[in-house]
Parts: sequence; C-alpha cells; structure tokens
Amino acid sequence: MSKEKYRVIQWATGTVGSAALKYFIENPVTELVGLYVTNPDKVGKDAGDLVGLAKTGVMATDDVEVLLAIDADCVLFSPAQAPGNLDIICRMLAAGTNVVSPAGPFLPNKWYPDETAKIEAACAEGKSSFHGCGVHPGFSGDILPITLSRLMNRVDCIEVSEIIDKVRNPMIYTEMMGFGLDPEELLANPRRSPETYKAFYSSMAMIAESLGKEIEKVTVRFEVSKAKKDIKHLYGEVKAGTVGGQHYEWTAWSEGAPLIVYHFYWQLGEDLDPLWQEGEARYRVVIKGDPPLECNLMGGKDADGRHPFLGLPWTGLVGCTVVPQICDAAPGIISHLDLGVVQPRGLVRR
Ligand SMILES: NC(=O)c1ccc[n+]([C@@H]2O[C@H](COP(=O)([O-])OP(=O)(O)OC[C@H]3O[C@@H](n4cnc5c(N)ncnc54)[C@H](OP(=O)(O)O)[C@@H]3O)[C@@H](O)[C@H]2O)c1
Repeated sequence: MSKEKYRVIQWATGTVGSAALKYFIENPVTELVGLYVTNPDKVGKDAGDLVGLAKTGVMATDDVEVLLAIDADCVLFSPAQAPGNLDIICRMLAAGTNVVSPAGPFLPNKWYPDETAKIEAACAEGKSSFHGCGVHPGFSGDILPITLSRLMNRVDCIEVSEIIDKVRNPMIYTEMMGFGLDPEELLANPRRSPETYKAFYSSMAMIAESLGKEIEKVTVRFEVSKAKKDIKHLYGEVKAGTVGGQHYEWTAWSEGAPLIVYHFYWQLGEDLDPLWQEGEARYRVVIKGDPPLECNLMGGKDADGRHPFLGLPWTGLVGCTVVPQICDAAPGIISHLDLGVVQPRGLVRR
C-alpha cells in the first residue's frame, strides 16, 4: 500500500550520499528524519546546510544508536566501504527499517553466500526489504541492457563499458587506483583486484537469468597505458612513463561463448600510449546480434559542450527513486527482476 510520504534516513554525505540527501530534502514524497555523518566538521550541522538548501531542522549526527532508534521507513545507506557496514544494515533491517544501499556486494550472489544469508535473516526478523543500488553495478550493467534486449530479435553478446576521463571528471580514488605507478608494478598487482568482478557478478547473473542462460565462468583481462608527459589532475600529478590509463575487461561465458563483457576504461586525458579511443565519459551498452544496438548513457552537456560523468550522483539517485517501491515491497532481498518497472514519484515539480 503506497504512502503519501516516506520517512527516510540518509547515511553519509560523500558524493553519492550528498546527491541522495538533496533528493530527500527536495522530493515531496520523502521526509528526511535522520542524517548520519562521520566527519566531525559536519556533526551538528543542519542537513540543508550540507547540500546548500534551506534549513530542515534535521541535524547531522555520528551517533548510530540515535539513528537506529528513529522510526523510519527506509535508510539510504551510502558510507565508504567499511567492515562494520553489514552489521549496521542488518540491525536496521531487523528493526523493521528498509535499506537501499550501494555500499557493498550485497545482492544475492554465489560469491557472497554468508552476506546474503545474514541480510535475508534480518529482513525476515524485521519484515523489511533490502535493495542493492548503484549505477554499475546496479543499473548500466543489468537493468539497462535487460530492458534494451527487449528491442532485439537475437542476442549474441552484450558489452557494457564504463568510460571516464579522470582529468575532466576528477575522482578522489585516482591515486588509490594506482595511477602514477610503474606500469609493471600495477599490472602485477592491480588495485582493482582481479576478483572484483565478483562484486559485479549479481548484475551479470541478472542479465543471464533474464535471458534464460547460465554463466559458466568469468575471465579477466587487465591492461594499462602510459602517460606520454606529466599529467596534472585535481588530486595530484602522474609523471611521464607511469600509469595514465587502465582497462579492465571481465567476460562472462555461457554455452562456451562470451555472453556479457564489462569494460572499464579509465584514462587521465589523452596524452597516453596507447590511447583507447573510447570518446566522452559515459556508459555504453552494445548488443551484438540482430539487429545490432548501441546505447550511450551520459550526463547532459556542460556549458563547454562536453558531457560530465555522473556515475556517482546517479548511484544515489537510482537508490532514491526506488525507495517507495522498496518500502511497499514484500520482505526480503529485492532485485530489479522482482521490482518490475520502477515508477519514480515526486520528480515533476513545476
Ligand atoms: N554500485 C555503484 O555503482 C557505486 C558507485 C559509486 C559508489 N558506490 C559505493 O557507494 C558508497 C559511497 O560512495 P561515495 O563515492 O559517495 O564515497 P565518498 O565520497 O568517499 O563518501 C563516503 C562517505 O562515507 C563516510 N565515511 C568516511 N569514512 C568512513 C568510514 N570509515 N566508515 C563509514 N563511513 C565513512 C563519509 O561521510 P561524511 O562525509 O558524511 O562523514 C564519506 O563522505 C561507497 O561504499 C561506494 O563503494 C557504489
């Protein structure tokens, strides 16, 4: 049964969380009732002040127990990856608060049976629902290609690419991901572990399931490109000859052939060798088959005529827009395949 308003808690105000916080304050279908922050400078501040909006009367707190005691319909849980996250999520669920979160590989997935079981048990105890959200995993690599495959007669292979120029779209993770390292050193020890595809496996499995197929194995390829000169970016500088570009490729095989391929092209500008000519920042879905299809998902043009990468705010927004349906859903872990068509509310405001 749909409510007129859903009481929500926003958990953390990083890039993803700030987009969600703004949404919850501005959307008439949601009422912000709590805000968690870790940064001492943000504790005690009004939620509105943290995202440049009018005061809300909701003060940011770092007190987990205070937030757990609030009678909320849902929490958008978007902190940094941290060991205690799953416990907090399960406490929320067991207390009857629905949870939407991009902060973990928590969707049902053969690689994470313990996490899945723990979340299912908490949902059963609190008669609550859990939904893992995100742009990728969570949208561009699952529900988007699944929806697009409705335009196909025959599907041979689905390729999803994340393309980011990190000079134009600066990200705090740049140094952490190994840009600026010696290429041989990074190739031997990739910062995005070769195992990371397991966190994306739910999305691959969702596509396979929707096409009535099974994944037999996933193979991994990783290559780097070198900076041809010193390249400055918002969070530092990479020296000529060090890693200036990275390309991860994960291939899910079905019936002995590639069925789903995820590419991640991250490059610092264009002075790179080799330069993968992938164009502007976006998600690109290519479906090989009959008829061939290509779909490009990108932010609207900035004043300079180029498209920004909006993956982080989208990760918050794709979680916010599903909140009413997760709150209204039957208890348990809810994937896109359970949801049907999500119908976002409160977006049209004249
Ligand atoms: N599935 C996807 O497509 C996708 C895409 C992007 C991100 N994500 C996930 O979404 C989450 C948020 O990403 P983001 O880009 O917003 O990250 P971010 O900008 O680094 O923000 C994370 C926030 O978490 C809080 N925090 C900092 N240290 C913490 C700690 N040790 N334990 C708990 N919280 C801590 C801080 O909140 P305050 O500033 O409020 O103190 C920080 O601003 C991450 O878990 C990330 O992996 C998923």
